[in-house]
Amino acid sequence: MRIIVGISGGIAAYKAPMLVRLLKKNGHDVQCVATSHALQFVTPLTLQTVSGHAVYSDLFAESNDFSTEHIALKDWADAIVVAPATANIIAKMAAGVADDALSTTLLSMAGKRRFVCPAMNSDMLHAPATQRNIEQLRADGVTIIESAVGELACGCVGDGRMAESEEIYSRLISSMEAPLAGKKVLITAGPTYERIDAVRFVGNFSSGKMGYALAEVMAEQGAEVVLVSGPTHLTTRHSGIRRIDVESARQMYSAAVETFPSCDAAVLCAAVADYRPEHCADHKLKKNGNKGLTIEMVQNPDILATLGKMKREGQTLVGFALETNDERANAKSKLERKNLDMIVLNSLRDKGAGFGVDTNKVLIIKRDGSEVEGELKSKRAVAEDIVRELKLK
Ligand code: C5P
Repeated sequence: MRIIVGISGGIAAYKAPMLVRLLKKNGHDVQCVATSHALQFVTPLTLQTVSGHAVYSDLFAESNDFSTEHIALKDWADAIVVAPATANIIAKMAAGVADDALSTTLLSMAGKRRFVCPAMNSDMLHAPATQRNIEQLRADGVTIIESAVGELACGCVGDGRMAESEEIYSRLISSMEAPLAGKKVLITAGPTYERIDAVRFVGNFSSGKMGYALAEVMAEQGAEVVLVSGPTHLTTRHSGIRRIDVESARQMYSAAVETFPSCDAAVLCAAVADYRPEHCADHKLKKNGNKGLTIEMVQNPDILATLGKMKREGQTLVGFALETNDERANAKSKLERKNLDMIVLNSLRDKGAGFGVDTNKVLIIKRDGSEVEGELKSKRAVAEDIVRELKLK
């Protein structure tokens, strides 16, 4: 592959030659584009020696034609990886600023695969502006490669240390070569909790295991995964998964509706509460003598049906169904009604399938009417079957 390594001016720039070497050693062609600040940390001679090409850093250098250099580079490259990416270059990318060789090259490559490896002081990383900019890059289809350590529960990137060259290399290559490379997928998982009062909720027994297995499998195949998760005890392993933790159906609805437009596919696995208490008391409800308690429930929005209405050409939408009677017919009518491309029917009859357990048995029904009946297997194997049938490649 032909890869541009973009280097901005952080101390981690000293690691860039190692990434270039790793790419070259594995048979890839590499050109370096550096900011002038980057060249305070690493010399052009070093970069030139490891890459075998002159370094592009000055839009107005006599040796290059300023009007075409970045365009030629864009046409030459399959991908660009910015390592290290400072808060400054991330902000410029998010805003579309093109005022030097690297930012201009990046802007010209909006249609190509772009990878960004943030490296900065942790306060700068957690500054709201930087977090907003990183979110913007994600929404623009840029893959953020953060250090595996320090992944925060909020889903934002780690402590600001740049990922190691080997990690950047493997993320980059697996993402470029993986079957779902360049695809962005939304997955909902787990239960929702609907508050009754300050300490109580209405929930269900969903463990989230099926959705988390789907997230891992799709991330391993190179997809950028946004996992909108209800309350679970599960953790994610793959750094290609961005997790948004929610509690209620309405929070899950907001996160899903906001994320779906930039996705190629959505798989809605969550066991969403169909109803919520109309009122949530802000204190703990007290026992009221020997009287019973009646809680008025109101309907929650249907996330799947909403995404079915929002769905545009080229997007794939998958729902799950858990039926107790007329399973097949009900699942098929749900597929039609909610404008789905595929529905996964969970079995309630089979021991070892469904809520909480590590195994599942499903029937996949597609829009064209074809069906794939699975055996009882691990949720991970079921996830692999579902992803295979999705044919997102
Ligand atoms: O209609 P039913 O609730 O049986 O549909 C189940 C499917 O719809 C699942 O994929 C579930 O994640 C999704 N769903 C949803 N929002 C709701 C209820 C269900 O996305 N409020």
